Amino acid sequence: MNELVPLTIVGQGAIGLLAACQLQRQRLPVQLWLRHNESNLRQTGKLSVDFTDLSGQSTSHIYTSVNASVFTTAPATPLITRIVIPVKAYAVLPCLAELQPYLSSQAQLIISHNGMPELEAYQQQLKAEQALWFLSTTQAALRSASGVQHTGIGQSTLAAINPTARKQSASQQQALLQQLTLALGPVTLTADILPVLWQKLAINAVINPITALHRCRNGELAAPELAPLISALLREVCLVAAAEGMDLTYASNLSRVYQVIEATKANKSSMLQDIEHGRPTEINAITGYLLRCAARHKLTLPHNERLLAQVQQLAQGQS
Ligand SMILES: NC(=O)c1ccc[n+]([C@@H]2O[C@H](COP(=O)([O-])OP(=O)(O)OC[C@H]3O[C@@H](n4cnc5c(N)ncnc54)[C@H](OP(=O)(O)O)[C@@H]3O)[C@@H](O)[C@H]2O)c1
Repeated sequence: MNELVPLTIVGQGAIGLLAACQLQRQRLPVQLWLRHNESNLRQTGKLSVDFTDLSGQSTSHIYTSVNASVFTTAPATPLITRIVIPVKAYAVLPCLAELQPYLSSQAQLIISHNGMPELEAYQQQLKAEQALWFLSTTQAALRSASGVQHTGIGQSTLAAINPTARKQSASQQQALLQQLTLALGPVTLTADILPVLWQKLAINAVINPITALHRCRNGELAAPELAPLISALLREVCLVAAAEGMDLTYASNLSRVYQVIEATKANKSSMLQDIEHGRPTEINAITGYLLRCAARHKLTLPHNERLLAQVQQLAQGQS
């Protein structure tokens, strides 16, 4: 395994720290790209993180942080060769622009977020020899004041997005896959990530906005009075998916939505958490994406349209 390629991870969010802590437990090199100028970072350049795994076992971790000012003050700092970017969908493009001067010309970038990625826009930010990958994950983690907790086992799917990533040798791809498996595994490598993204989109388009609007935990979506709304939203997702050439079967996706509602019944969705904390939501990459697709095909999705407006209104009321 090509384990000497150090991994840089953007931010100190739940997924990024989960990946960082799991790698460091395996004694693999990780550093964090952090923009926050917190006092502990200013003085030491290090971030301390407590990690609690699924079995409740806790470990303490210390990370070196890197950012634009580190490259300015220490010009010999090596350029970034492999970076995971697990940020909210709306944060990816500004992040790529910020990172580009500090990436090696052959860097590997692994982007991971909920909602539909703007893959073409991401590719346009890269140089020809930089490899772009997308990682979709259902791992669950929660950020706390002192660190991060792994809250739910999930699966991750990795795909090469641009020609440079696709033409990497089998051994290069395996090395990346193994590193990501230790970080956010199990990871499956797929040639076409779109079916995975649409399935996840169908679930997110139902669970996230409704829980945000009703300010309820996922399990409360099993209430019979919400069944007509869930059904109507999902039918619209399947309609627009079909127009995009995606085979998203209504019945199997409806039962998957209810499986996720049951399996995550105690959880607060990320959109509800964002609303509660007054942070921007990912509604534009989820419901907004569906509506943009629908407009291209001259379809109307009245239930999703109403939900988007309600969530946007809710978010505005918070700010
Ligand atoms: N948490 C989960 O269980 C989970 C599960 C599956 C999928 N996801 C998805 O995975 C993505 C990440 O989730 P998350 O929960 O880890 O989000 P998060 O807690 O918001 O973490 C993202 C982190 O990246 C930082 N960041 C953004 N842009 C940056 C930049 N240019 N430079 C440095 N730091 C930057 C953010 O800083 P600020 O806080 O300052 O913005 C934040 O610390 C989202 O799309 C989410 O929906 C999450």
